[in-house]
Amino acid sequence: MSNADLDKAARTILIENDQGGYTIPTKGLYPYQWNWDSVFVALGFATFDQSRAWREIEMLFEGQWRDGMVPHILFRKDDPSYFPGPSVWGTDGGPIPSSGHSQPPVAATVIKDLVDADGSGKALERAAKLMPQLMNWHRWYLAYRDPKNLGVLAVIHPWESGRDNLPDWDEALRAVEVKDIGPYERKDTSHVDPAMRPHKEDYDRYLSIMAACRNVGWDPQKVAETCPFFVADPGVTFIFLRANRDLLILAERLGLDADAEEIRGWILKMEAGAKTLWNEELKAHVALNERTGRQTDGISSASFLAPYAGLADQATLTSLQGHFDRIASKVRYLMPSYDPDHRTYEPLRYWRGPVWAMINYMIARGFAEAGDSERAGRLRQDTADLIATGGFAEYFSPENGAGAGGGTFSWTAAIWLTWASPSHQKQAA
Ligand code: DGY
Repeated sequence: MSNADLDKAARTILIENDQGGYTIPTKGLYPYQWNWDSVFVALGFATFDQSRAWREIEMLFEGQWRDGMVPHILFRKDDPSYFPGPSVWGTDGGPIPSSGHSQPPVAATVIKDLVDADGSGKALERAAKLMPQLMNWHRWYLAYRDPKNLGVLAVIHPWESGRDNLPDWDEALRAVEVKDIGPYERKDTSHVDPAMRPHKEDYDRYLSIMAACRNVGWDPQKVAETCPFFVADPGVTFIFLRANRDLLILAERLGLDADAEEIRGWILKMEAGAKTLWNEELKAHVALNERTGRQTDGISSASFLAPYAGLADQATLTSLQGHFDRIASKVRYLMPSYDPDHRTYEPLRYWRGPVWAMINYMIARGFAEAGDSERAGRLRQDTADLIATGGFAEYFSPENGAGAGGGTFSWTAAIWLTWASPSHQKQAA
């Protein structure tokens, strides 16, 4: 397919996955509105319909809970093709049936991008309306995902990280007691090859964590205190730190002085806190099980998001460049979700090796901002080649570029449109 044909195919995917103002990630496997999927999708829509891009994010925030949390899934209508649906989550925190935890907070960054891309001033007005909701979501993160004030954010479920079955969660997940789950039937493995999805032992524990949180009524304080899984995640932490920098710029432009002051405090705290995720042996940021105090021992694609978070001091950058080049010598396509030199690496199983387009986009952006346009360019080229080879798949093999997981995937289409496609190239080289 020519690049123009790929542009057209990407727009068609977004239009066909559009449910009337919000977009599903892909038909069959993921039939609802997912949090960070939707936000990346907005970037794709913005390349041909800015107003529709805003609608995507506004509809996501319609599901915000009374406590400030923006859920990872909004179940706007019941769809029996997905498990676990609303009755399993058993939540009651907001106006729309939803899951009980969040997903990486990319929204403030994308909202700032939409404002920057608009010359009319209308986008700033739409951003102004969302500011109180963004502030409340970020306050929620700090209160309930960093209750010890460490300056890093934890996830209470692997799904909250958006990087569902990353090896980083293995040890903490194994410690979760399997209980209160009853018999259940997975649906994901009827949509895609089970070899590309998490194992049953993982699913038992995913459901056990949900049961534990349901048993405390999804009360955010109690969840933070008692959830059997509580792991500080460099992915969510770096995305949040970056989002706060963008939120600060928005607050300053809108003259929201008190908000701006509050956000400056968050940034300082997180810049210091990120050091607790630094693994001196690996010379990279890793996850930290807050229940045991143990750091993980592998490099994930989120380790490369430090520059995106604005943490691009020379030592960090040099070390990441070394890891980047080492990994590039092992696989054909960057950036695998887990280090190919690590014992747990699997090139086709969900987050244990495959490449994701939107992660490449964020890594490249950080590297470009840190002055490394060469590696940023490599990531863009690899992403474009992967899509040209493997189609608009959910993710790709770093070894041969095969598309895997769900097909006609919205965020892959969106990242193509906003960044990887030669006709829409912007930001990260
Ligand atoms: C899944 O894989 O179904 C999870 O809900 C992901 O968010």
